[in-house]
Amino acid sequence: MTDETAREFSTVGVIGLGTMGAGIAEVFARNGYTVIGVELNDGAVERGHQHLEHSTGRAVKREKMTAEQQAELLGRITLTTDMKALAVADLVVEAVVESLEVKKSIFRLLDGIVRDDAVLATNTSSLSVTEISTANSKPGRVIGVHFFNPAPVQNLVEIIRTVVTEPSVLEDVQGVLRGLGKNPVVCGDKAGFIANTLLFGYLNHAVSMYEGKYASREDIDAAMRFGCGYPMGPLALLDLIGLDTAYEILDTMYKQGRDRLHAPAPILKQYVTAGLLGRKSGRGFYTYEAPDSPIVV
Ligand code: NAI
Repeated sequence: MTDETAREFSTVGVIGLGTMGAGIAEVFARNGYTVIGVELNDGAVERGHQHLEHSTGRAVKREKMTAEQQAELLGRITLTTDMKALAVADLVVEAVVESLEVKKSIFRLLDGIVRDDAVLATNTSSLSVTEISTANSKPGRVIGVHFFNPAPVQNLVEIIRTVVTEPSVLEDVQGVLRGLGKNPVVCGDKAGFIANTLLFGYLNHAVSMYEGKYASREDIDAAMRFGCGYPMGPLALLDLIGLDTAYEILDTMYKQGRDRLHAPAPILKQYVTAGLLGRKSGRGFYTYEAPDSPIVV
């Protein structure tokens, strides 16, 4: 389950069974862990069940798993609204909405529930792990684990260690993630982590190039596809991500890191204000016939 040097983990708690949490629960259960999922209310528990059944059902259809394996996997996951069920967890992964206040209230609550040696992880994509950790009485046992969407498919997991994360916690988490077949990478606590810091700096630069009329959108995209082997050009990728989402990510990174590479290109804000959000609104850098349809103009 884990590599030789890591502590043995067998029970994992997942808080929040939305897009990410359900996927994370599935990954752990698929690898033999007992999973306790905690949600807000009965309706959310039911949605969590449906999410898990749908996702594993697709794996059965694609013959990546047998119906028997699916039943075993689902049998290893218990969903509840009772946070106290996490008292037996070796590791807790928090994957609730991206709100500092909500996340801090959870880490505060975990204090009186989890074992002293439990590892507490947050799946935040942009909030400060350090700040979240201060809500708990053992910030040294708090760490970020940033899974990518969809968690069962994407192999990269960014591990975020704060200045007070205990070295043994980092080692344990690396071992657990490797045991899941993931590729963990380690970085410090700064919005964007490794992948988004580099990716969004590059995307923002492409927008500036377009804004400065240095080259056409088609030529900027073609250069990166055919010259660098990227599956999509930067402007088409921004349309797919959503210009509003991209703007928010850049703005958060810029406010935290003050790296001018992340200062959102002015035209990005103008497009967002004008409602040009990319594929989802039918128009961004390109125009789409209908939301999410292939490029037509
Ligand atoms: P989501 O909105 O799909 O799911 C959040 C879930 O948390 C909901 O089911 C909600 O009922 C539950 N929840 C809210 N408050 C709760 C509480 N107090 N106790 C228990 N459950 C609670 O959100 P999503 O997209 O899964 O994101 C979760 C986290 O993962 C966020 O921090 C986000 O930034 C991060 N993330 C998201 C990615 C994505 O592509 N969606 C990728 C990587 C990280």
